Amino acid sequence: MTANENRHPAVQPRRIRFNYPVAALDRHFVQGDLVMSHMIAHLSAVFPEGEDFFIRSVRRYADQITDPDLKDQVKGFIGQEVTHGREHRALNERLHEMGYPTRRIDRLVNRRQKAIERRFSPLTCLAITAALEHFTAVFAETLLTDERAQALLGNTEVRSMLLWHAIEESEHRSVAFDVYRAVGGDETRRIRTMRIIRFSFPLAVVTNTLISLFADRAAYHPVRLVRSFAALRHSPFLTRAVFRRLGEYMRPGFHPDDHDNTALLEQWTAALFGEQGVLAGHLH
Ligand SMILES: [Fe+2]
Ligand SMILES: [Fe+2]
Repeated sequence: MTANENRHPAVQPRRIRFNYPVAALDRHFVQGDLVMSHMIAHLSAVFPEGEDFFIRSVRRYADQITDPDLKDQVKGFIGQEVTHGREHRALNERLHEMGYPTRRIDRLVNRRQKAIERRFSPLTCLAITAALEHFTAVFAETLLTDERAQALLGNTEVRSMLLWHAIEESEHRSVAFDVYRAVGGDETRRIRTMRIIRFSFPLAVVTNTLISLFADRAAYHPVRLVRSFAALRHSPFLTRAVFRRLGEYMRPGFHPDDHDNTALLEQWTAALFGEQGVLAGHLH
């Protein structure tokens, strides 16, 4: 029995749209910081194709799910990821205009996902999805928990968008995991897959961020670049607590709901989408 059978978090896509006013974004939109701006632009560029891969991986098993709650959660998960993909594509077009290689990354990720799907079984693709959803959930909950992480994003529409995405990632963090278990995925494959993902995913992020930086003239200012790399040592996303949580996935018997996110989600849902919510006007 999974922890999720006791708790039934609602996973429902919000009908939302963001718009980025012309010239409202600085080129280095993460507090003027080179490395973080390129890294977040890169992650945004990866999301649409990545999320399409997650949807395909889960949808392939949708017919095998018998538990009605999990069935509903799968529907909600797909709806949420479709909306994330659409909104990130809109942001990625803006980032492209600002000089970020988001289109190139989109094509690259598409090719890589297709290769993975040709080479690995559907169950391994689902295990990859569950592993990457763990990464997403840990970073999403770090953003929602750590004020320093929120401060990095200033007060822009990008901040609002990433906060909304973070809430929904936390809401559906256990769906791919529970589908994997429900269709007979075992602990050996789950942990073995994460063993590869925990190196290959950060390596891809670092490599692509460097390539992206390489094409930015501002990165050729050595003092600014060194300072920006040095600042990573104090990044709220690279703390010991974050690494510990990422590592917990390797423990046999782990479940995403081992960490209660109820209060965090209640607080942020009220702040963003409640009656006085900052983003209530974005819903349609
Ligand atoms: Fe997402
Ligand atoms: Fe997700």
